[in-house]
Amino acid sequence: MDDRLEATVTTAFDPIDLAGIRLRNRIAMAPMTRSRAYGPGLSPTESTAAYYAQRASAGLIVTEGIQPSPGGQGYPDTPGLHSAEQVAAWRRVTAAVHAAGGRIFAQLMHTGRIGHPSLLPDGLYPVGPSAVPARGSVYTADGPKPFVVPQELGEDDIWQAVEDHAAAARNAMAAGFDGVEVHGANGYLVHQFLAPNANIRVDHWGGDDRRRTRFAVEVVRAVAAAIGPERTGLRISPGKALGDIDEPDPGPTYLALLRGLEPVGPAYLHLVESPDRALTRELRERFRGVFVLNPRVEGGHAGPEQLSLVEEGTADVLAFGALFLANPDLPRRLRRGGPYNPPERATYYGGDDRGYTDYPALPEDGEDAAAPDAQRPAPAVRTG
Ligand SMILES: Cc1cc2nc3c(=O)[nH]c(=O)nc-3n(C[C@H](O)[C@H](O)[C@H](O)COP(=O)(O)O)c2cc1C
Repeated sequence: MDDRLEATVTTAFDPIDLAGIRLRNRIAMAPMTRSRAYGPGLSPTESTAAYYAQRASAGLIVTEGIQPSPGGQGYPDTPGLHSAEQVAAWRRVTAAVHAAGGRIFAQLMHTGRIGHPSLLPDGLYPVGPSAVPARGSVYTADGPKPFVVPQELGEDDIWQAVEDHAAAARNAMAAGFDGVEVHGANGYLVHQFLAPNANIRVDHWGGDDRRRTRFAVEVVRAVAAAIGPERTGLRISPGKALGDIDEPDPGPTYLALLRGLEPVGPAYLHLVESPDRALTRELRERFRGVFVLNPRVEGGHAGPEQLSLVEEGTADVLAFGALFLANPDLPRRLRRGGPYNPPERATYYGGDDRGYTDYPALPEDGEDAAAPDAQRPAPAVRTG
């Protein structure tokens, strides 16, 4: 191995400047719903604080999806950021992460048509860009139930939803978060507006690619106006079929979205990768800010093999989901070449601290002799 070449290659272990915030490495914890908001009024608990603080060696933590408003909740026991008690409870989480030297963004997730009236406070009903139900069923307290036909949002309701995101973003800053990620991925409200099968509107919020991107742009614009574009990120998942989304030709939609976002200038774009690596590269090329990639791995989860994507220049930051859930000290393990705790699906959603705060960390560097950096897969490209 040529040491001179090695020194000039940016790796996932190098720090990066995220619009003025220094991330200590380029390994992010992807947002993951854990359905354990057992604190007052759907708020995080001491365990939540411990869970995130354990993972503070990430360059950036993106929290689980957090509903910006009561009507945005689509799953049991997910936390919110719309009440004073939730803000107070999140403050303990952000303080614990910061005390451990980490950075944490709040993911704002309005689930839209993915939900059920039984999960919502009295009088609220799932909403969507159009009265088009998702095929499939949702998990409720009484077991799985088919998705309902959502209430189509009217003009005023749409602006209210935009403002709810901005208000939750202000709450996030009051709670000590480093910023906010708008959840525009995985079939939830923002993605429903983007997708031609969920958004069949014929007004200025639907129709062609540009109009379908309008809600996403307005939400990001409102959040950026509330807390600053440098504190604002957006997650997208072009073509991802989750939540019965069908985007047969996502490229033009998402390129239109990036054009719409240009004047707003969010700090980062977080891509849940589609099978189309060429689209990944194109989006990366067109986006001016930091490019966070949650790489696609056919039939599995992102892992150490994807570290080379930073070295190749495909991504600025890599987001790991399941592997971070199961390995609180993931950056250290990636550096050492493992070993890795396997994620346990049975404890993903709900339950107690098992599968939440009890995944073991490796001994500190120096406490054991085995630090086999050499086991890490060699980066695919080494350029000067
Ligand atoms: C338990 C669990 C919960 C998740 N919840 C969310 C969520 O709230 N918001 C989100 O954007 N993605 C969510 N995801 C998707 C992950 O962020 C990530 O995109 C996915 O796990 C693929 O990445 P991986 O291969 O590294 O696991 C979740 C994934 C898992 C495993």
